[in-house]
Amino acid sequence: MQIGVLGATGPAGRGLSARLAANGHEVILGSREEERAAEAVRRLQERWPDRSLALAPATNEGAADAEVVVVATPWIAASTTAEAVADRLEGKVVISMANALAKVGHEFQPLVPPRGSVAASVQAAVPRALVSAAFHHVPAKELGDIDRPIESDVLVCSDHPEATALTVDLVNGLPDLRALDSGELSNAAPIEAFAAVLLQVNVRYRTRIALRFTGLDDGRVGAPRSADAVRAAAARQGVAGDHGQENP
Ligand SMILES: NC(=O)c1ccc[n+]([C@@H]2O[C@H](COP(=O)([O-])OP(=O)(O)OC[C@H]3O[C@@H](n4cnc5c(N)ncnc54)[C@H](OP(=O)(O)O)[C@@H]3O)[C@@H](O)[C@H]2O)c1
Repeated sequence: MQIGVLGATGPAGRGLSARLAANGHEVILGSREEERAAEAVRRLQERWPDRSLALAPATNEGAADAEVVVVATPWIAASTTAEAVADRLEGKVVISMANALAKVGHEFQPLVPPRGSVAASVQAAVPRALVSAAFHHVPAKELGDIDRPIESDVLVCSDHPEATALTVDLVNGLPDLRALDSGELSNAAPIEAFAAVLLQVNVRYRTRIALRFTGLDDGRVGAPRSADAVRAAAARQGVAGDHGQENP
């Protein structure tokens, strides 16, 4: 799959780009300045000279032309960055990985962005895109160390079943990551906020923890459900698949 990453020059975007490329995806690294993206690609290629990673530099506009687009900017810039390329995102799955956090002294504190979460702000900025939220708790350094597997659960939520299905599929295609469909985009608020808790624990115990839920066996998590299956299940429960509104 061809995946564009907006703000790919930071640790999170670079790490995710490397991990995706190491697993067969073609990744376009976007930046406000193409030269910075080119430098990021150079650094990744130099780190793994023996791997043929399909990485290409671009502006954020160029990255937004990809089939699927990830927003990996700081939270404050996520919706404006997506809005600036809104016409290129129409009808596409757009994955928001940004967390709204502040470091106050030694404490990480979650912030409440407009509409409750960064992902919801991005969805409002690009209403014709299918926004999902994912990758919030996966540390950049481990993501980018593609010689090692990265074991973690990845909570995925969206108001669009097809975006959930594609994102779940993408995550599950990365060895040792396990995607969990966490419902509608309203759940992006606690998912993003929980990143502050993980960072705080990391500081307290001088480590880098990952998220793993118990009580699920892989058989039950299984393959991502298709958009049709999600809609059918939602209809059986008496709710609309796309937006979770009550059926009339
Ligand atoms: N770091 C982690 O471990 C981690 C893990 C999971 C999720 N996240 C989330 O992923 C996002 C990116 O994290 P990061 O640590 O990589 O962030 P970062 O280094 O601060 O920013 C990433 C990139 O965003 C672009 N950017 C910065 N300010 C911008 C602005 N005002 N407008 C538009 N673009 C701007 C920059 O790229 P250019 O200057 O090249 O345009 C920058 O290199 C954050 O929201 C973070 O919460 C991080």
